[in-house]
Amino acid sequence: MNTEVIDIKTIGSDGKGSLSFYEAQRTVPFPIRRVYYTYGVEAGIERGAHAHRDLWQLLVCPNGCVEVLLEDESHRWSERLDRPDKGLVIGPYVWHSMVWRTEGAVLLVSASDWYDEGDYIRDYDTFRREVCAYVARTAEPGA
Ligand code: TYD
Repeated sequence: MNTEVIDIKTIGSDGKGSLSFYEAQRTVPFPIRRVYYTYGVEAGIERGAHAHRDLWQLLVCPNGCVEVLLEDESHRWSERLDRPDKGLVIGPYVWHSMVWRTEGAVLLVSASDWYDEGDYIRDYDTFRREVCAYVARTAEPGA
């Protein structure tokens, strides 16, 4: 629910490395208002452990490997971001944590809105309550 793995378009240049790019509202299914990146994290450290109520984000690991642990209303799974051309879209009501699998990994995030602490759900029990209400709401006819 509200997640998608996307291929980031990549141009190779004959022994001179690669160039990867994505474009808001084209290959990324939302407008981008904010970009942030997390780095200098030791291997084994877990960050995140929250969900958002409205925000959409695209996570890319341009260098190294970060594993993203995900939970929606009915599933738990994980995605390894271990290639610069792999992107993970995470939308509302998906609980996520990011575990640094390699030292020096960088996590680049493009978000659909400006920073707003009020959009975060940082308490797990609140997440469980709100995700069930969200699923019930979106399943209603005409929702
Ligand atoms: P948080 O999103 O909890 O980071 P992570 O998911 O990597 O653990 O944010 C960590 C802190 O940084 C928190 O105090 C909020 C602040 N912050 C901003 O001020 N602006 C931002 O764009 C982001 C993403 C975080």
